[in-house]
Amino acid sequence: MTPPNGDTLATAPDAPAEKATAPENHVIEVHDMIKQFDGKVVLNGINLNIRRGETMVIMGGSGSGKSTLLRCIIGSLKPDGGGIRLFGDEITSMTDGEMDGVRKKFGILFQSGALFNSMTLRENVALPLQEHTDLPGDVIDIMVKIKLEMVGLREHATKYPAQISGGMKKRAGLARALALDPQILFYDEPSAGLDPVTSAEIDQLIIDLSKRLGVTSVVVTHEMDSAFTIADRMAMLDKGRMLTVQTRQFFENMRDGEPDHLDHDGQLIRQFLRGDADGPITARKLSTSYEEDLLGLDETETYVRPAIQPTRTVKEVKEKKPETAADSTAPTATVADMTDNQTDESKQPDRRTGPDDRRTGEEDRRE
Ligand SMILES: Nc1ncnc2c1ncn2[C@@H]1O[C@H](COP(=O)(O)OP(=O)(O)O)[C@@H](O)[C@H]1O
Ligand SMILES: [Mg+2]
Repeated sequence: MTPPNGDTLATAPDAPAEKATAPENHVIEVHDMIKQFDGKVVLNGINLNIRRGETMVIMGGSGSGKSTLLRCIIGSLKPDGGGIRLFGDEITSMTDGEMDGVRKKFGILFQSGALFNSMTLRENVALPLQEHTDLPGDVIDIMVKIKLEMVGLREHATKYPAQISGGMKKRAGLARALALDPQILFYDEPSAGLDPVTSAEIDQLIIDLSKRLGVTSVVVTHEMDSAFTIADRMAMLDKGRMLTVQTRQFFENMRDGEPDHLDHDGQLIRQFLRGDADGPITARKLSTSYEEDLLGLDETETYVRPAIQPTRTVKEVKEKKPETAADSTAPTATVADMTDNQTDESKQPDRRTGPDDRRTGEEDRRE
């Protein structure tokens, strides 16, 4: 269903068709990519081109393959078929040494922020600079201050991760991801585990950084409010298939327009975007037979629930007031603005151990 360039698909005839762009504008090119685990195909012929400077949101339900796609793009998983080019170079055939060189050009924000809990924020952000550059200590100090200022944490430089809120940890993780002035920033579920206001604040930061630094951002999320706030273009994965890659406007038209003219995939995307309880996603779940359910033959979840998690209602944060005594940068929120989706400190890495930049949020969660 997705054309070879991964750029266009006329799922909703009324929406403006997208123009394909020249390959020299693509910083990431995924072509016919296949990934399987233990013989089970989890990514099936993925095509996706990401343009320099844009914010691409990769969305899809739980288990649709978003994190796996991200891990293949950053070179921590090897695809079983097809190819991936970063900055024009095929990475699937690179040696570890060559891949390390490419990795310096991008930053990754994991779900937990993946900070070293035994180090202060300043030390955490300094680490990539100490490891990957020959810069003298005083220059590194200045660069660390700049990165922490970019995410609003300069005054908290000497705090340890255990002393700050979940949203601040995300921002600190982002400062670290920015340390080497990356050309691409990858985010895996940046809003996961955050309250609605903090989540909106992270969205705003992603937008600001992409504007101010001109970086390309690739954001994996299943949160539609967040996706529609930050995306230039969006890619929709479903059970390892790339259904479509389109502009945010296209998806907005699809979400808000009438469903009549949409084909099956279009209806499925629309249900996902709207979080409707009825639609092809629900029908698919209900169609699993009792035997399949009992014997675990179908990999999908078999209970019925809305396609997406409840989303926040607050999109913009105008005023700020301290969230805790330690957090003078947290936004103002009334009780009515908040959901019970509070920061989950249990997702943080063990204080004695440190993060591995190649891990995903899933791995962090397992700790
Ligand atoms: N390391 C792994 N080994 C085996 N199966 C995996 C592994 N990582 C992911 N999977 C499977 O691949 C599918 C896609 O997972 P994932 O990319 O994490 O989905 P998402 O991020 O969209 O929730 C799921 O069925 C998951 O169970
Ligand atoms: Mg994931």
